[in-house]
Amino acid sequence: MKALLLENVHTLGRETLEKAGVEVVSVKGALDEDELIEALAGVDLLGIRSKTQVTSRVLDSAPSLVAIGAFCIGTNQVALSHAASRGVAVFNAPFSNTRSVVELALAEIIALTRRLTEKDKSLHAGIWDKSATGAHEVRGRTLGIVGYGNIGTQLSVVAEALGLRVVFYDTAEKLALGNAARMTSLDDLLDVADIVTLHVDGRPGNAGMFGAAQFARMRPGAIFLNLSRGFLVDYASLRERVLSGAVAGAAVDVFPEEPKLAGDTFTSELRDLPNVILTPHIGGSTEEAQQDIGLFVAAKLRDYLDVGATNLSVNVPSLILDRPREGSYRIVHLHSNVPGVLAGVNQALSGVGVNVESQVLGTWGNIGYVTTDIGSPLPAAALAELEAMPPTIRVRVLDPARRQL
Ligand SMILES: NC(=O)c1ccc[n+]([C@@H]2O[C@H](COP(=O)([O-])OP(=O)(O)OC[C@H]3O[C@@H](n4cnc5c(N)ncnc54)[C@H](O)[C@@H]3O)[C@@H](O)[C@H]2O)c1
Repeated sequence: MKALLLENVHTLGRETLEKAGVEVVSVKGALDEDELIEALAGVDLLGIRSKTQVTSRVLDSAPSLVAIGAFCIGTNQVALSHAASRGVAVFNAPFSNTRSVVELALAEIIALTRRLTEKDKSLHAGIWDKSATGAHEVRGRTLGIVGYGNIGTQLSVVAEALGLRVVFYDTAEKLALGNAARMTSLDDLLDVADIVTLHVDGRPGNAGMFGAAQFARMRPGAIFLNLSRGFLVDYASLRERVLSGAVAGAAVDVFPEEPKLAGDTFTSELRDLPNVILTPHIGGSTEEAQQDIGLFVAAKLRDYLDVGATNLSVNVPSLILDRPREGSYRIVHLHSNVPGVLAGVNQALSGVGVNVESQVLGTWGNIGYVTTDIGSPLPAAALAELEAMPPTIRVRVLDPARRQL
């Protein structure tokens, strides 16, 4: 088994794959389309970050490729459905930087509530501005979390430990953690929150969800944070509310348009406002998150190779699978999701007298995935029959020797 890791994937990713008996080639930067096609000859696993584009042409030119690990959160850089249709499973690390975002949000909540950035700027300018006016403790204040998902829930728990009262609003039914109180509408949350922080996902329907009406509804002197997605918020309205003093401070990490490269110029209506912290989309950017991403995605690739597990894949049905029983063989079969595939697989096996020990099927959109454990090696004739079934995309018989690694 051979893996190609591009774009400086964390060394823990390489180590995890090497421990699993995979030969790893690491390349520092990204590759362009032609370079990638050339480099993928004979490669089973590809690891990338956000800069490498895995296009349909790349996928069509890489017949040995079994899986791709996106060692990051986003997967827009991969032609996902084309990859599935060629039997290439794609994995990413959707949760590895959750804690990093939570810690930045908390740091900003305290900094804004104490007006730290203003004090810092004054003192750097040589002005000794010692006063308590407008500076508060966060203890006893009400934190309103909009979007109670991976980040929102973790923020809720850690914020309570600091003595914040937590309320949240989520469009989905969510269990309140600790002493947090669920609000039945965004307006209800805005009516009570001293701090409003957005942690919703970037579904298209959320575009512009926080605008003039929502800022007007916020409590006078409340603070606002957005570390989720830039296009959710009308920043011109935020600017007006900050300048009028209605919003006492804001922290913004994400913008509708963000510069592509480090060092590029950043333009925004939020620049040069008092008590406003601007950060260049670094909520999830910590060394710890990179390390966690390296381990998490490499483990997903290893488990897909060894066990066939597709848990949290972004393009093929998600199956959580145990290791096969000692001495048994597992066949994993990706196919077009059409009626009769399971019957076809079982017919191919029973035709050569092979008994099925256990079987798991999942379907998602136009892709199906079935894993079948059998007690004896798969005869070549049955493998040929499975490969020849018209809906078959890819069949793999997992190597029991790899499970000893
Ligand atoms: N700043 C960064 O560097 C950084 C890093 C990681 C994630 N993020 C962003 O943070 C956000 C949250 O990430 P997550 O992993 O917690 O996502 P998640 O999918 O786990 O949670 C999002 C929650 O928002 C809820 N939601 C969606 N629309 C809503 C609405 N209109 N009103 C109320 N609730 C709504 C969903 O039901 C869900 O519970 C995402 O937008 C993600 O892209 C930013």
